[in-house]
Amino acid sequence: MSLFQDAVLLLNQAGIIQFVDPLNFEVLELPEDALGQSLTDLDTEPMILQLVGAALEQHAPQTAEFVSEKLERQKTLALSIEPYELSDGSAAGWIMITRDLTSLRRLESIERDFITNVSHELRTPLTSIKMAAESLQMGAIANEKFKERFLSNIQRDADRLTRLVNELLVLANVQDAKTALHLASFGLDELLDDVASAMTPHARVNDIALESQFAPNLPIINADRDRLRQVLVNLIDNAIKCNRPNGIVTLAAESDATQVTLKVTDTGIGIPSIDLPRIFDRFFRVDKARSRVTGGTGLGLSLVKDIIEAHGGDIRVESTVNVGTTFTIELPIRAKA
Ligand SMILES: Nc1ncnc2c1ncn2[C@@H]1O[C@H](COP(=O)(O)OP(=O)(O)O)[C@@H](O)[C@H]1O
Ligand SMILES: [Mg+2]
Repeated sequence: MSLFQDAVLLLNQAGIIQFVDPLNFEVLELPEDALGQSLTDLDTEPMILQLVGAALEQHAPQTAEFVSEKLERQKTLALSIEPYELSDGSAAGWIMITRDLTSLRRLESIERDFITNVSHELRTPLTSIKMAAESLQMGAIANEKFKERFLSNIQRDADRLTRLVNELLVLANVQDAKTALHLASFGLDELLDDVASAMTPHARVNDIALESQFAPNLPIINADRDRLRQVLVNLIDNAIKCNRPNGIVTLAAESDATQVTLKVTDTGIGIPSIDLPRIFDRFFRVDKARSRVTGGTGLGLSLVKDIIEAHGGDIRVESTVNVGTTFTIELPIRAKA
């Protein structure tokens, strides 16, 4: 659907409908037999009746943007009603244009929330860097222990900012690149081995065992290898970070004729069911305080989901608190970008 559509309607001087373009049936939910009826007699949105009434009474154009109250689907509508007259004088009346702005306004509000979130995420480490620098300047630099602590805080927060900016860049890329994934054919088993060996040292230093369960004869797939690698690294990183001491992370893969199924399972803290619906939202973290320590930005899973969906795949999550979490990806063997 396009971001907005204009529905045009002509009324004569008395407010009788002379022309309805079919979009009006959708946008204003006008009845099929609206032509020839008086608009003000129709059982439609009160704000529209009010504007048309005002135009007819005051002989003055009207415009307004409003959220519908009566329509079956709640919509943000912009309406303008203006007088018109054909140059040969054969007809005169009112032209009413209704623009459905629902999707546009929704997008704008998502964008605003996103900017608010980004600003907040950037400000937190910046404040902390500034505070550490000030403390050092005010004398902490003379104390070995404080000096160490403040300097390492500065470093940690600078790392966090770098990660955040990097993830934002990837996010922007994924968004324009939804149509332009760098697709190539490669063996799934080769990618999985690569990911497993890259993540094994990271698991080991965290006292986690990383296990592989790959079905034999995994197919050659057509996908964006770098992005898919990033997806698996992200999921395994979370599974390690959210595990219990001496826990296990399992990376499993199988396939059928059309798709591959990848699973990352852990034996960790789990995700409370109340948080599951928001887990793929940008910047969402179950425990913000804890993630300040682990350094997470809350962008990882939203990227993962974007990437999988850009391939025409699907991702879902099941979790039990204090038992563990499984992320399941279903990916077409040939990306349907
Ligand atoms: N395997 C998991 N087990 C428990 N919680 C998880 C798991 N994976 C992700 N989460 C929760 O989801 C949040 C968002 O994950 P993610 O988007 O990767 O962000 P980040 O890793 O930067 O915090 C994490 O902060 C964590 O609270
Ligand atoms: Mg993560």
